[in-house]
Amino acid sequence: MDRPDQLDHPDRRKKNQVTQGTGPSGTKPSGTEPLGVAVVGAGYWGPNLVRNFQASDRFRLRWLCDLDVDRAQRVLGGYSTVQATADYAAVLADPTVDAIAVATPAGTHLDIALAALRAGKHVLVEKPLAATYADGLRLVTEAEERGLTLMCDHTYCYTPAVGRIRELVRSGELGEIHFVDSVRINLGLVQKDIDVMWDLAPHDLSILDFILPDNVEPVAVAAHGADPIGAGQACVAYLTLQLNTGAIAHVHVNWLSPTKVRTTMVGGAKRTLIWDDLNPAQRVAIFDRGVDLAAPQEIGDDERRDMLISYRSGDMVAPAIGEKEALRSMVDEFGDAIRERRAPLTDGRAGLRVLDILEAASRSLEFKGAVVGLRAGH
Ligand SMILES: NC(=O)c1ccc[n+]([C@@H]2O[C@H](COP(=O)([O-])OP(=O)(O)OC[C@H]3O[C@@H](n4cnc5c(N)ncnc54)[C@H](O)[C@@H]3O)[C@@H](O)[C@H]2O)c1
Repeated sequence: MDRPDQLDHPDRRKKNQVTQGTGPSGTKPSGTEPLGVAVVGAGYWGPNLVRNFQASDRFRLRWLCDLDVDRAQRVLGGYSTVQATADYAAVLADPTVDAIAVATPAGTHLDIALAALRAGKHVLVEKPLAATYADGLRLVTEAEERGLTLMCDHTYCYTPAVGRIRELVRSGELGEIHFVDSVRINLGLVQKDIDVMWDLAPHDLSILDFILPDNVEPVAVAAHGADPIGAGQACVAYLTLQLNTGAIAHVHVNWLSPTKVRTTMVGGAKRTLIWDDLNPAQRVAIFDRGVDLAAPQEIGDDERRDMLISYRSGDMVAPAIGEKEALRSMVDEFGDAIRERRAPLTDGRAGLRVLDILEAASRSLEFKGAVVGLRAGH
């Protein structure tokens, strides 16, 4: 398991400029009073949503719902006016609830989120959006037909570091992207129901989706994995993604590593950046270093090609990056998207694109690393 900690608000450009309509349930997207919200799931992650909804002036937390009502009550404490319940139907019937945040296991996301949308509530779903692409598509379709906001909590996209990386990549400061290399390894909690790819790679894949320019996207994936401890599912996995530009992206996720590593390298034609999430003093470093090759038409033979390779060895710059809790920015974005009737930065379709890659990677694992094409036009 992995959690992003800090972050600033990234810019507000998004892949899908979908305009949201008004919800049918008397929601108040353009009013000024806080939106009523209920969190479903009071396990490991739900309390983080509870804390951030309570801290946000855009929301008023009304309910915390969990099958284990005692757990929900413990999370809220003895003096809270927020109601703890195991009765989800009561939450959905409450007209003061405008939005539902789902922090239950992935296999339950479809039923809980679909019921919320059908009750006219805006929905925030924890990553991954759903257990399958087909389930995720049902949620996206339902939300779009009803004009409701559907957001996926791709938390890392709301860290100040990833916001800055997105700006650097999309503004062209790094030049055309040549490669992305992402490593997320540590002694992880071996999950019962999902493999290491479905547990950890949603973070890397959602970051990739978020930072790449609109015209650059993965088109195929090949995955290799291993279960050396006999856990019943892959505990170590390597995903290789082909991008439509000919560039390559690689993701290494691992539950068995004795040391924790969280680094992403984004190599561009002009500059290369390295993000080390475990180094708060210098999370992002931008290197004006790389290899240049003269244009192909200027190249005669192989010998001449060797001579035309040159190495740039310029400065390294570490930009100042603010500190703000990612989940706080994520929660604020959810509120703003509802009010402004626009798609959130990490909308349901962003969640779908991640599910598409995860499913293709699972198929690739079954077929020993075969290259599997991705769907187009999410
Ligand atoms: N964004 C992140 O960085 C991040 C980090 C960790 C987990 N997550 C996600 O959060 C979600 C929850 O993960 P977790 O680790 O907190 O799980 P968990 O098992 O610790 O907690 C899940 C809780 O949901 C409750 N629950 C299950 N089904 C329910 C239902 N139908 N109605 C009401 N309550 C129900 C359980 O009783 C439990 O308390 C997952 O989707 C996970 O991927 C996201």
